[in-house]
Amino acid sequence: MHLLVLGGTVFLSRAVAAEAVARGHRVTCAARGISGSVPDGAALVRVDRDEPAGLDPLAGTAFDAVVDVESMSPTRVRRALAVLGARAGHWTYVSTCSVYADHETPGQRADSAPLLDPAPDGADETDGELYGRLKLAAENAVRETLGERAFICRPGLIVGRGDRSDRFGYWPARVSAGGRFLAPGSPENQVQYVDVRDCAAWIVTAAEQRLVATLDAVCPPVRWGEWLARLTAAVGSGAEPVWVPQEFLLEHGVAPWMGPGSLPLWLPVPEYAGFMTCDVGASLAAGLHIRPLEDTVAESLGWERELGLDRERRTGITRERESELLAAWAQRGTAGGTAAG
Ligand SMILES: NC(=O)c1ccc[n+]([C@@H]2O[C@H](COP(=O)([O-])OP(=O)(O)OC[C@H]3O[C@@H](n4cnc5c(N)ncnc54)[C@H](OP(=O)(O)O)[C@@H]3O)[C@@H](O)[C@H]2O)c1
Repeated sequence: MHLLVLGGTVFLSRAVAAEAVARGHRVTCAARGISGSVPDGAALVRVDRDEPAGLDPLAGTAFDAVVDVESMSPTRVRRALAVLGARAGHWTYVSTCSVYADHETPGQRADSAPLLDPAPDGADETDGELYGRLKLAAENAVRETLGERAFICRPGLIVGRGDRSDRFGYWPARVSAGGRFLAPGSPENQVQYVDVRDCAAWIVTAAEQRLVATLDAVCPPVRWGEWLARLTAAVGSGAEPVWVPQEFLLEHGVAPWMGPGSLPLWLPVPEYAGFMTCDVGASLAAGLHIRPLEDTVAESLGWERELGLDRERRTGITRERESELLAAWAQRGTAGGTAAG
């Protein structure tokens, strides 16, 4: 198979290219080539999708399959479809679970979960607030142009080597340092993500098998208690969680999900009880293979060590802040306040 990856120099699209090369496929990556290198064995064609005619170097070439990871711009997706769609045997568009409208209902499925309204033509394609709606407009463009040849892959949080968001890696990094660590919310809450290697492998399999579907790419949900216990065992640190209820964290200004001062992956419930509890039965049946979480943790910890465990993080709390919060939690109620949890 001759596979075209629109991207291929970073994270997921690079992992797709690497996986396809490893399976013996001929791989062409198309990017500016400024964010990184393509994997060994893949060819790079330099293109600039900011230019209306930026994909012209690829025009006239037939590909057995195309994978597009365009993040925000339906305009770029439509241009790619116009230049490459007619001669592409199969097309994967990497979308996101952020296209869903209901974050509260657990166990939703890709074929029935309510969706946001797609962003209208002319919407600001740099507006992060429109992310899910822009992705949906891009999805619709792909389905409308070549729905009978298209796989829409909707990843949740993508984790592993090459992840620059500092989210998932916070946990193996923190737990590897040992001691008592702040665990957010309840051990009964759930967490869901996808190893970049599993997502990439599924995308290559989908191209090989010409999968036509719209499906989520995440692991089955895991309870935080089990997740942190297995993560701790995998890291081998003997660290101990101190579970601190969400109300206490919110009152003390700890941000959920991501960003400085946050506890990554933690989301308040019930508002976000559906965000990391997708039903992925159909995805597993369609070829998504999820490796053991211990493997994902080991890879993420290796990546964290490469980045530097003591670096200033984009996401997560510092050890000093964690100590303050744990002390405040231990002191709760002793200064006239009410004990929580
Ligand atoms: N990270 C997550 O947790 C997450 C979750 C859900 C969905 N997603 C989706 O997953 C995808 C991630 O893709 P990714 O990991 O490959 O990262 P990415 O940062 O979206 O990759 C962008 C690729 O496109 C290329 N590119 C950027 N601007 C370009 C331009 N003007 N012209 C040509 N090429 C250009 C980049 O290479 P050069 O810069 O070298 O040109 C790079 O190879 C995105 O669609 C994202 O929305 C991510």
